[in-house]
Amino acid sequence: MTNNQTLSEITRDVKSYLQYIEHLGCEGLALSEGSVETLEQLGKGSEAETLEMIQRDLGDCRRCKLHKQRKHIVFGAGDPRARLVLVGEGPGYEEDLQGMPFVGKAGQLLTKILKAINLARKDVYFCNVIKCRPPGNRNPEPDEIVACIPFLRRQIRAIGPKLICAMGTFAAQTLLQTDTPISQLRGDFHVYENIPLLATYHPAYLLRNPDKKRDVWEDVQKLQAVYEK
Ligand code: URA
Repeated sequence: MTNNQTLSEITRDVKSYLQYIEHLGCEGLALSEGSVETLEQLGKGSEAETLEMIQRDLGDCRRCKLHKQRKHIVFGAGDPRARLVLVGEGPGYEEDLQGMPFVGKAGQLLTKILKAINLARKDVYFCNVIKCRPPGNRNPEPDEIVACIPFLRRQIRAIGPKLICAMGTFAAQTLLQTDTPISQLRGDFHVYENIPLLATYHPAYLLRNPDKKRDVWEDVQKLQAVYEK
């Protein structure tokens, strides 16, 4: 690894981290437009990052407390050049066991939803806001999201998808840096780093609330229309 690559990786991480803690309400760091621009310029000086490079950097991550109980880190899976990236919340029991995203009950439902819009698992890329299972499947905590989010941002940048689908509150609110409820965000295209992002309900929520399936069906049809354009 060259010194240049190291610098650009650090730059990317610092920038994502500062933006995220700013979003969380941190007022101790005033990040001027100029500073952001400088960081951006520094980040541009290097070769494009690959998913392998990001995974290597993640390593045997111990950046937050979730490492203590996890069985596997769930980095992400699918086509590294996918035109559609699906972002969930975090690994559940099965995902933790297998080290693969969306392989449990919610994942099976998601696979069916994708099939209904002519997409196979191999066509897309699956990833999550956090990469380690929270004990008892509790919600991710802010410090865990802060530690993990730079990796998701880098993954999305490395893939360069045409479209993102953010599933559930944590994916949608974290990527869009908003507190707006998912019930209001869903069904619309938003923008994440110049990429159209459609927010919808999480498949696990659908398992508990089957009456919301119609909403998700409408949402994914919008996704399909843009994907196939
Ligand atoms: N739920 C998620 O948000 N992600 C997974 O990978 C599995 C279930």
